[in-house]
Amino acid sequence: MPDTNPTGSVLAALPLLLLAQPAMAAEGPARQALIDADYQQGRTAFQQRCSACHTLAEDSANLFGPNLWEMMGRKAGVLEDFDEFSDAMRESGITWSPATLMAFISDPMGFIPGNTMMIPEPVPERDRVPMISFIMLETGAADWPRPESAMVQDAGVAPGAPVSERFPSFWNHLMSNTTRYRLVTEEQEFIFEAYFNTDGSVDTNLERARGFWHIDESDMFCYAIYELPIRPAQFVECFPVGAMAIPRFNPELWRSRPAEGMELWGGITVGRP
Ligand code: HEC
Repeated sequence: MPDTNPTGSVLAALPLLLLAQPAMAAEGPARQALIDADYQQGRTAFQQRCSACHTLAEDSANLFGPNLWEMMGRKAGVLEDFDEFSDAMRESGITWSPATLMAFISDPMGFIPGNTMMIPEPVPERDRVPMISFIMLETGAADWPRPESAMVQDAGVAPGAPVSERFPSFWNHLMSNTTRYRLVTEEQEFIFEAYFNTDGSVDTNLERARGFWHIDESDMFCYAIYELPIRPAQFVECFPVGAMAIPRFNPELWRSRPAEGMELWGGITVGRP
């Protein structure tokens, strides 16, 4: 006779409800707050705090951290292309959602003790919801339309302006320094240098190898390098210009699999010979 004791059945269900939601991840941002969030604020926060290590767009390279395309709904630490996950991340049992991402950026070490993502400080509270909203819009997780402000470029620069004006730090960094590659195939490891030129060409320190680059309407930077003295003899790679918004020098800044059987480590070193 279940109807005679409604209180009892509610109480019996309570432990189940509590078990279903890990306490720390329970406080996710409300859907409406994500929809209403300031896109530009989220973008700026992501560029300043995350983009040195993560790309968002589909098929973009892994940097120091994994590409985050379609991360929502995926288990932590399972992305196949990225082999640098810590055991802590892989064994965390977390599935990414607005709530778990909120918990992670609020306290990366507290939420997943022992993970290897080093950020100098938690994301400030005021930036969290805009950042999650921005990440969802850019990783194919938002079921609401892109805000009009997404089309607006960085303040004060016209959307149609050349890349050199819209992304001056990226431009100066790539066009005046050396890009260093370490390509690893089953047979060998091969290191060479490339020099991106403002006219769309790419030179290298090798006898024949050269290439070209192009930036498309959605600010994806794509380039090809060919006639390499190894097999495969060429590769193509694309990444969002925004991923290079913060100029950094390191011989190994990003990692990707640009061709079958080839792993690439890319980095930027100071100046050109
Ligand atoms: C210094 C480089 C670096 C920065 C900056 C950085 N991350 Fe990470 N991120 C990593 C690394 C490395 C991992 C893998 C950590 C591990 O496996 O323990 C990671 C993992 C992640 C994951 C888990 C991905 C998955 O597939 O499970 C998410 C989500 C994430 N980062 C989001 C962010 C956000 C949001 C920011 C900005 C607030 C940020 N990261 C800043 C390096 C970075």
